[in-house]
This record gives sequence, C-alpha cells and structure tokens, in this order.
Amino acid sequence: MLEHQTLVDFIKTVAIPCFPKNLRLVDFLKETSDKNGVVELLIQLPFPGNGLIPELESQLKEALVAKWPSQAFTIKVVQNLVAYETKAGVAPLAKIKNIIAVASGKGGVGKSTTSVNLALALRAEGATVGLLDADIYGPSIPIMLGIPNAKPVSEDQKTILPISSHDLEAMSIGFLVDEKQATVWRGPMASSALQQIVRDTQWGDLDYLIIDLPPGTGDIQLTMAQKIPVTAAVIVTTPQDLALADAKKAIAMFEKVKIPVMGIIENMATHICSECGHQEAIFGEGGAERLSTEYEVPVLGQLPLTMAIRSDLDEGVPTVVKQPDGPIGLSYRGIARQLTANLTRLGKDFSKGAQGIQVATWAPKK
Ligand SMILES: Nc1ncnc2c1ncn2[C@@H]1O[C@H](COP(=O)(O)OP(=O)(O)O)[C@@H](O)[C@H]1O
Ligand SMILES: [Mg+2]
Repeated sequence: MLEHQTLVDFIKTVAIPCFPKNLRLVDFLKETSDKNGVVELLIQLPFPGNGLIPELESQLKEALVAKWPSQAFTIKVVQNLVAYETKAGVAPLAKIKNIIAVASGKGGVGKSTTSVNLALALRAEGATVGLLDADIYGPSIPIMLGIPNAKPVSEDQKTILPISSHDLEAMSIGFLVDEKQATVWRGPMASSALQQIVRDTQWGDLDYLIIDLPPGTGDIQLTMAQKIPVTAAVIVTTPQDLALADAKKAIAMFEKVKIPVMGIIENMATHICSECGHQEAIFGEGGAERLSTEYEVPVLGQLPLTMAIRSDLDEGVPTVVKQPDGPIGLSYRGIARQLTANLTRLGKDFSKGAQGIQVATWAPKK
C-alpha cells in the first residue's frame, strides 16, 4: 500500500495546470486509503469545481500511472465550501455562507452582465447561489434572468420569497419598487432599502450570494459595507482609461472599509466580430493588468465584447446557461473557480463538512 506521505511528496512535484492559480492540489489531498488493493485519494476542493473534475482526473491520472503503472487508483473529489469571516460587528446572515459584491466605479461596463453570468457559473460549478440585484437606479437582472414580470410573494407579511430562475434564487429591487420612483431616492433611503431587501428575503441555504451593486462609490456602497456582512468584492471594468480611473476609486473605497477585493474582471477586453471573428481591442489593451499591478489585486479573467453575451441576456437565457461549455461559458466558469479559490486567502480551515461527491476510478489494463 502506498503511504499517504509518499503520495503527498509525489503530488507536490506534479503540475496540474487546470487547478486555479495560487493553489496547490497537494494542499487539498486529505486522505489516502486502501480499498482492497485500490488506492483511494480523497481530494477536498475549497471551491466549487465541477467543471474541473475531468481535467483534474486526467492530469492526475497521467502522472500517477507514469509513476506507478501497476497500481489501481480511485480519486474521490468532494467539495467543501465554508463561510469565511467577515468584518467584526456586522451580524452574519444565518443561511448565507458568503456574500460577494460585484462593483464598478462606472455604469455600463457590464456589472450586471457579469453578476448574472458569474452567479450562474458558480451554480454550474456546483454551488448553491443567490443573486441580488441591488442596483436601485437601474435594476436589469429580472430581464437578464428572463423573469421581468415576476412578483415575489410574502407568506408572513414580513419576509419575501426569492424567485427561482435557472436554478438561482433571485431577488431584485426592481421587483419591489418602481424604477421611476427609485431614481429620485436619496442615498439614505436607497441604502435602507438595500439593507432591508438583503435581510428580509427568505434565502435558502446559500454558499454564495452575489450582489449586483449600483455603480459608483457613494453612500449606498458605504452603508452596505457597514451594515451587510460582505465577505469580498469583485471589480468589473473595461480596459478604457475612463472606466479604469473609476475602478481605482472602487478598489480604494473597499480598502477603506476593509472589504477584501478578490479580483478584477475585465469586460469588453476585445471586440469579436460576429461576421468574421476578427478580434480588436477597441477599449485599449492591458488596462486591467496595470490596475492589478498597481493595487495587487489579481485579474480573474477577461470577457470579449461579443454579440452573444448581449443577445442571450436580452432573451433571458444567459450565455452560461445557453452554452455552458462554449468559450464564453467556460471563461465565466473559470473566473468563478478562481474567484472562490482566492477566497481561501481569507484564511479559514476547510477540513469539515464536505459535500458533492464525485468519483473517478482507473485500474491498470490486465
Ligand atoms: N461582454 C459583453 N459583450 C456584449 N455586450 C455586453 C457585454 N457586457 C455587457 N454588454 C451589454 O452592455 C450593456 C450594459 O451592460 P450591463 O451589464 O447592463 O452594465 P452595468 O450593469 O455595468 O450598467 C448591456 O446591454 C449588456 O448586454
Ligand atoms: Mg447594471
């Protein structure tokens, strides 16, 4: 029987290119056991990683078979998504493990587009996910999720039930208030509406709640930081200088209120022509990378400006749902994994409560 430590020492030396950056597979090899001569490796992922399993299996298999050709192996991958600590002083929400705010300094950069596809990508990777549209001044998630006329109901006259769409739990300020009315609200009113909607929605048990914030760095964002237990933030920007300047303000704001920024998503990084497939960097190049270097915040990924992303949302069937294995779907899913992998930086041990078991087995050919 191969010793656990022998496998640990070997796996340390193996490159697993599909694994998220900055994480080592060996750190998540929890156990090695012998099941009637078959060596079973138990791998416990700290992020939702359904899309990773086939590649992980084949990359690991290749290495193990080369090293121990006559040994049979099973790998068991379990997923263990924990709640990370948030700032002291804000009471956590009982049913929500982690709240991730999606922010941008500037409007129109694709914050809602990113929020919706990111939430669905986390779902596709195996997490339970809620999505809250908190953009009081321009709620667009009901349309993007294909539920523009949904009316949430209340069973107890105190709390409201989220609407289910594409296997997400969704709530939007747009379901509850008239947009024309909300646009004249002042900061404090908008902020208290946001707090209320987060707390008064009857969320189920969620691994992640994604909040699509209104653009900007004003009152609403600050109140949220002080009153809602946000685990981390993600910044959406385009490569354009104007958007980057505002993204900087957003990063600085989160730093000030001590909400860790887990990464930057560069949207509309290039334009892909739907006729000929030609790519062009119409908003400039390398912007997010420069921002990343300056603020030491990683770039989680890039999305092109492409017709399908827009038209799928207009139809209410976002690209991640329509083509989960297409290039755009895979990009969002890779971003979702990297984002949640980066949360492990927040430090918490992830040794308990695994779920979502998947098994791959291989034996040497006789
Ligand atoms: N990568 C993209 N490719 C094509 N269209 C996009 C992309 N990102 C956003 N859009 C479109 O741009 C518009 C603005 O995006 P949206 O997500 O609503 O921005 P924000 O929430 O930042 O105001 C929408 O019509 C959306 O469909
Ligand atoms: Mg929006």
